[in-house]
Amino acid sequence: MTASELAGRFEHIYGSVPRIFRAPGRVNLIGEHTDYNDGYVMPAAIGFFTQVAIAPRSDRKLVVRSEEFERDFEFDLDHLPQSRVGAWCDYVLGVASVLQQEGHALRGANLLVRGEVPIGAGLSSSAAVEVASALALLSLNGAAMALPEVAKLCQRSENNFVGARVGIMDQFVSCMGKAGHAFFLDCRSLEFKLVPMPPDIRLVVCNTMVKHALASGSYNQRREECEEGVKILARWDPAIRALRDVSLELLERHAKDLSEDVYKRCLHVVREDQRVLDAAECLRKGDLKRLGELMRDSHRSLRDLYEVSCRELDVMVEAAEGLPGYCGGRMTGGGFGGCTVSLVHSANAEDFAQEIAKRYEAATGIKPNVYVCSAEDGAQALN
Ligand code: GLA
Repeated sequence: MTASELAGRFEHIYGSVPRIFRAPGRVNLIGEHTDYNDGYVMPAAIGFFTQVAIAPRSDRKLVVRSEEFERDFEFDLDHLPQSRVGAWCDYVLGVASVLQQEGHALRGANLLVRGEVPIGAGLSSSAAVEVASALALLSLNGAAMALPEVAKLCQRSENNFVGARVGIMDQFVSCMGKAGHAFFLDCRSLEFKLVPMPPDIRLVVCNTMVKHALASGSYNQRREECEEGVKILARWDPAIRALRDVSLELLERHAKDLSEDVYKRCLHVVREDQRVLDAAECLRKGDLKRLGELMRDSHRSLRDLYEVSCRELDVMVEAAEGLPGYCGGRMTGGGFGGCTVSLVHSANAEDFAQEIAKRYEAATGIKPNVYVCSAEDGAQALN
């Protein structure tokens, strides 16, 4: 839906002319489950967007509707919930609630949300809603907030209001992504580098159609296992604050002090951080062969050490092997379902999409959605 179509829908429903903001979903090329360990990630924003249309009201109500979900919601700005209500509006409401808790004076408003990022597919539909909502709400009280701050605000909303202990990657790249570039981010310092994508490479995103709805418990559990590792390893080196600070050598030396699961989680993170550094270098040098190998290694590690893959993701990754133009690929996002990302030469991308869909369906009986994507720009105002 275009912005002017959404504006038309808004006027029809609410009788006023809105401003419209949009924010994209993302794929992560490499660096999985490293962001909350103060490590490195290299995602890219993709061309699926959530748009939020907004106009002020004269009273103190926040009215939130969506083009995708039946139920609309009305809240009193003077009594906003402080934690999730268990409905789709949580990602909008959470941002409003956190803004208010942090001293921003919100105005009454009507909102209409149009989301085109596939939900529960590991492409950060929630970050897209949060970021677009934050820009929309901030626009009404005239407060300028730098995009990295918007990203952090949205992460706090997801951590504290929604209750998912996510890292900063999704919100950050949704805010700051750049067309034609991978986004290398140091999740400790929040310094980033834009790494140009070779123009003849496409990001082919294959949705297994397995929803990762049950994943949030396991996600938080993985975080706890990483924290457990840090607690134990810091006994030998008090400078260790996060797995980012752990060398492979120190980890191996103290492997026997960790439970088997905690050791495996730590090993994944420590090696994955190095893979992201290597992958950024490969992309810079145009070494797609080695980059592809790093992506394959990352997948195997997520499958065997971090244990966040599932049969369908493994089938999809395997199905890509041998197809013309394929450089490499892996599961992307938190895991337990969702999508894979494959680097494919542009000339082969459409054939690749068709062929992998056939192979996957033959192996699983599930018809996947396959999208041929490029890196796109992050969040922006549309009018
Ligand atoms: C989800 C989270 C991110 C990140 C990934 C795993 O997408 O929102 O912060 O932790 O999982 O890499």
